[in-house]
Amino acid sequence: MLITTVSSLRNRLSDLANQDKKIGFVPTMGALHEGHLSLIERAYKENDIVVVSIFVNPTQFNNLEDLEHYPRTLEKDMELLSKKFHSILLFYPDFNEIYPKEDPFVPIDLGNLDTSLEGKHRPGHFKGVVHVVHNLFKIVRPNRAYFGQKDFQQVAVIRFMTKRYDFSIEIVACETKREQSGLAMSSRNMRLSAVEKDEALIIWETLNFVKQNKQNYQPDELKNRAVDFFNSGKLKLEYLEIVDAESLSEISNWNFEAVCCIAAYCGKVRLIDNLLF
Ligand code: PAF
Repeated sequence: MLITTVSSLRNRLSDLANQDKKIGFVPTMGALHEGHLSLIERAYKENDIVVVSIFVNPTQFNNLEDLEHYPRTLEKDMELLSKKFHSILLFYPDFNEIYPKEDPFVPIDLGNLDTSLEGKHRPGHFKGVVHVVHNLFKIVRPNRAYFGQKDFQQVAVIRFMTKRYDFSIEIVACETKREQSGLAMSSRNMRLSAVEKDEALIIWETLNFVKQNKQNYQPDELKNRAVDFFNSGKLKLEYLEIVDAESLSEISNWNFEAVCCIAAYCGKVRLIDNLLF
């Protein structure tokens, strides 16, 4: 069922919440793929009702071209959802529904989370994510919300904001879904040609190179070697960092659970991926 206004969504949900039904929430920007479907499947298993939102949030794009080219495929998304799931609530609001004049949002300081990795390269991005997810949480009031680990730092930011705003919502992070080749599924992959999809595999190969060579080098040496490995491919690297998986700060030894995060351009398409090791 397609719902476009906050008031009609609230009407549907408040009855269910009164019956103590658990609400699972999967926020998306549409152009749904297997990765989203696996989040929705999990949400179905763990809750009585599932809300999926589709909203291409302009405040989290620091690049106008990226926003303009972000795929918008509502018809196809609806078809995909109705084939796989029944009784889903699809929330498809416009800008004014999410950002009303009387916006309840009060910004918070994200500290290191806003200045490392994605934060460093996409100024304002996480402020936009926090703003939209905050407002969506206020509207949907779910018991659980589901996010993909591909956006590793986003999950950390969302956990942080959930605590700071005191939302009693369980944040569920789900493993990255990959094509058979290893390429992480992403709505942006729709903009890649077959050749580019092949070239993009260097990201996954580099992540594996890092994991396999952990025993052989200290983090900074491994990072340099991984950058060289990556640069043997065709993509343009934006960053490759090996950081503490919890604080996202740089590490100088292996006493931490580490994550390697990569952002790179494949033609005009910006891709990200990560691997915990
Ligand atoms: O991961 C995304 O698709 C977006 O950042 C999100 C969480 C839906 C907020 O716009």
